[in-house]
Amino acid sequence: MAGNRTFTMIKPDAVGAGNTGAIIKMIQEAGFRVVAMKKTHLTPELAGSFYAVHKERPFYADLCKYMSSGAIVPMILEKDNAIEDFRKLIGATDPQKAEAGTIRALFAKSIDANAIHGSDSDENAEIEGNFFFSQFERF
Ligand code: RTP
Ligand code: MG
Repeated sequence: MAGNRTFTMIKPDAVGAGNTGAIIKMIQEAGFRVVAMKKTHLTPELAGSFYAVHKERPFYADLCKYMSSGAIVPMILEKDNAIEDFRKLIGATDPQKAEAGTIRALFAKSIDANAIHGSDSDENAEIEGNFFFSQFERF
């Protein structure tokens, strides 16, 4: 059975552009409950460990630099079928290919500055949520 939690981060482009509130509103209106949330700023080293699964990919260095370039808003979210439904809500990685009305179609600037992250599996949602939040920060 699919799990009911996912992990997301609003990325530096969207936080910097003042779109945090509009994006959280879309997430809540799509039926997700916010379990944990904060505003923080990754160092390049922390971004590197968060994205360690991508360390062999050609875009890894740019991704780590970008993700440490400004404030981010990580969140743990809850809803039935959370992983799949959230990835539908955010749209394709490349905003040019993202379906109209998705968060990336509305707010992303490019494939790098693509507004928001969404976990790709229950296992990664658990690992990514644990990266940012202790058990006392989940309600
Ligand atoms: P995310 O993990 O951020 O939700 O994005 P995703 O699953 O849609 O994409 P993923 O393959 O996990 O890639 C992570 C992030 O790396 C950047 N990327 N750049 N230049 C490129 O070809 C490329 N491909 C991926 C994106 O910022 C992507 O969100
Ligand atoms: Mg991914």
